[in-house]
Amino acid sequence: MTPDRPFTASVFIATSLDGYIARADGDIEWLTSRGEQASDAGYEEFAAGIDTLVMGRGSYEKVLTFGAWPYAGKRVVVLSTRLPEDADPRITVVRDLDALVKDLAAHGARHVYADGGRVVQAFLRAGLLDDLTVTTIPVLLGGGLPLFGALDRDIDLAHRSTRVLGAGLVQSTYAIARG
Ligand SMILES: NC(=O)c1ccc[n+]([C@@H]2O[C@H](COP(=O)([O-])OP(=O)(O)OC[C@H]3O[C@@H](n4cnc5c(N)ncnc54)[C@H](OP(=O)(O)O)[C@@H]3O)[C@@H](O)[C@H]2O)c1
Repeated sequence: MTPDRPFTASVFIATSLDGYIARADGDIEWLTSRGEQASDAGYEEFAAGIDTLVMGRGSYEKVLTFGAWPYAGKRVVVLSTRLPEDADPRITVVRDLDALVKDLAAHGARHVYADGGRVVQAFLRAGLLDDLTVTTIPVLLGGGLPLFGALDRDIDLAHRSTRVLGAGLVQSTYAIARG
């Protein structure tokens, strides 16, 4: 951790082999239907180490369709330019990354989980990410919401580990050096 960013930030996400985290309409049935075939993908262990979730409005609205709120005990911050600030007492709404970083520092965040394609891309571009764990699902979707997007520079990654889970899921972790 550095003085200008007193927290670490991680991604733990699943993609199709062609790099999509959801279909264009937000559907993730291709993912959830395979989840039970896989052995423990390590999410519980990962989640135990984080105190704060940061997600985009797209991911937040998808979570609302699950019925149960899966983030009890964690602080949840939602990035959105549109969501009303008082939309949901379980979340804090922030409008941009500058406001987010100030909010996280003010609330003493130590380990942040960044979730949602647009949020991951914004974190990468802003140099806010420390590591990425990507679980690749053996399916090609041909289109959808991408995990990665345009960058104004290359981002070098250091490979940390790869393991093969059940049902042909391949999970790799990469570290990102702070620039
Ligand atoms: N495969 C997986 O493991 C996985 C994981 C997470 C999510 N998902 C799926 O992915 C879909 C959502 O992904 P998504 O790509 O739409 O991304 P997202 O990052 O969840 O949401 C995008 C929205 O977040 C807000 N946002 C993002 N970055 C912002 C920034 N820097 N400043 C201000 N607002 C920002 C914007 O909301 P406004 O338009 O309100 O400004 C933007 O439209 C859902 O279907 C979800 O189920 C899949």
